[in-house]
Amino acid sequence: MLKPHVKAVQLKASFKHMEKTASIHIEDKVYTYPVITGTEGEHAIDVRRLRKDSGFITFDEGFANTGSCESAITFIDGEKGILRNRGYPIEELAKHSGFLEVAYLIIYGELPTREQSSEFRAKVTENTAIHTNMHALFDGFPSSSNPMAILSSMLNALGCYYPEMASNNREQDLEHFDNAAALLISKVRTLAAMAYRKEMGLPFVYPKHDLRYAANFLHMMFTEPYKPFEDHAGLTEAIDLFLLLHADHEQNCSTSTVRMVASSGANLFASVAAGVCALWGPLHGGANTQVIRMLEAIHRDGDDGSRFIESAKAGKSRLMGFGHRVYKNYDPRAKIIGETVEKVLSKLGVDDPLLDIARHLEQAALNDPYFVERKLYPNVDFYSGMILRAAGIPVEMFTVLFAIGRLPGWIANWHEIATSGNTKIHRPRQIYTGPNERHFVPIEERG
Ligand code: CMC
Repeated sequence: MLKPHVKAVQLKASFKHMEKTASIHIEDKVYTYPVITGTEGEHAIDVRRLRKDSGFITFDEGFANTGSCESAITFIDGEKGILRNRGYPIEELAKHSGFLEVAYLIIYGELPTREQSSEFRAKVTENTAIHTNMHALFDGFPSSSNPMAILSSMLNALGCYYPEMASNNREQDLEHFDNAAALLISKVRTLAAMAYRKEMGLPFVYPKHDLRYAANFLHMMFTEPYKPFEDHAGLTEAIDLFLLLHADHEQNCSTSTVRMVASSGANLFASVAAGVCALWGPLHGGANTQVIRMLEAIHRDGDDGSRFIESAKAGKSRLMGFGHRVYKNYDPRAKIIGETVEKVLSKLGVDDPLLDIARHLEQAALNDPYFVERKLYPNVDFYSGMILRAAGIPVEMFTVLFAIGRLPGWIANWHEIATSGNTKIHRPRQIYTGPNERHFVPIEERG
């Protein structure tokens, strides 16, 4: 077990008005470092020279106190429950905008003019179809494959069909960036729908160019042979909102992964494929699947949520869709989704018992000292699955939809690192805790 070097190392931040610095006292030496301040006033001690100066590194497993980059894309104030993409509050974007417009904002930094918007939309629309040679790749997957595994593989494979955009030559990849970004945003939903149809043993459905982004996705998912998908009860708008709310969220696990991969000079396709893998885990994007599984299990057990809350407090289970590394307040996305769920379900006339359990769990947790003391609030995944369920999306596809939504954020972060002029590869250090040097033992002498 590692122990902090409490006595020898003493960290003292000494903020001054003009020039902020922080001093680190290690044994009898003092090392002084500049303090970086972001545009929203958050501070960081720039320890980039620490090891060179002192031989020490910082230790921050899980990176809860570590800024890995400067970024101008998304701002979160976790204490206050604030989320802004490129300066715009998520509430305003959710109310006035749509997924594709927010994708443009996140990637290019500004809301598009009418002309930019229609150009971007046209680029996305004309790139919807998948090269038919790729259809054969789907046949190689057993029908039990998880669609996240298929999506990650297919995004990487997609780069092979556009070698000029996925060259691992930074200058060349950047030259083709606009096309690659639009192409990925478009094709990711086609690949996702194909993964679903493959799993269901259904023929692929070709995209329709007259449909908008979310509607086209639902069409490719659900149009049966001879029976077009019909939107009802505002489901298309609800899915569009779901995607918009997931579009970017600062340096989370998958976005950090994308940046990590990109830092080696890897192309956009490879980097976002890695992002899909990081997103898959149940503590990250996979939580939206786990929330529904949890609610189903509670329902099956005839519990209204009270017994489950007790088992979560006892550490026997985890209340999925609750808690967040950054938010120590209500996740603003959860608020928006929570309200939308009510509207969608009431328009559909659906009385979903899982929603009642979710509401009960939420109220019980918000009033329970265990959750209050730890500042555990519902996160985006708590209610998002209810919308997807209402839209008829199977639970295995929930995290795939998260990935479609998050793609603009990954793309913007790849672009930020690729254009930053900082060519430093991401390469953390470690504290080695294994055996000291020992000598090779021939097999016949090993116990
Ligand atoms: N249910 C019960 N206890 C919890 C939960 C939870 N969902 N989340 C955290 N805790 C407890 C944890 O046991 C610990 O207690 P103690 O101090 O007694 O040891 C304390 O709260 C701090 O938790 P932590 O695990 O150190 O916090 P973290 O910042 O490392 O983890 C988290 C954040 C999101 C992984 C975690 O809250 C969690 O596992 N939540 C459930 C999974 C989930 O909903 N994930 C989606 C996150 S939002 C979407 C996204 O961006 O991916």
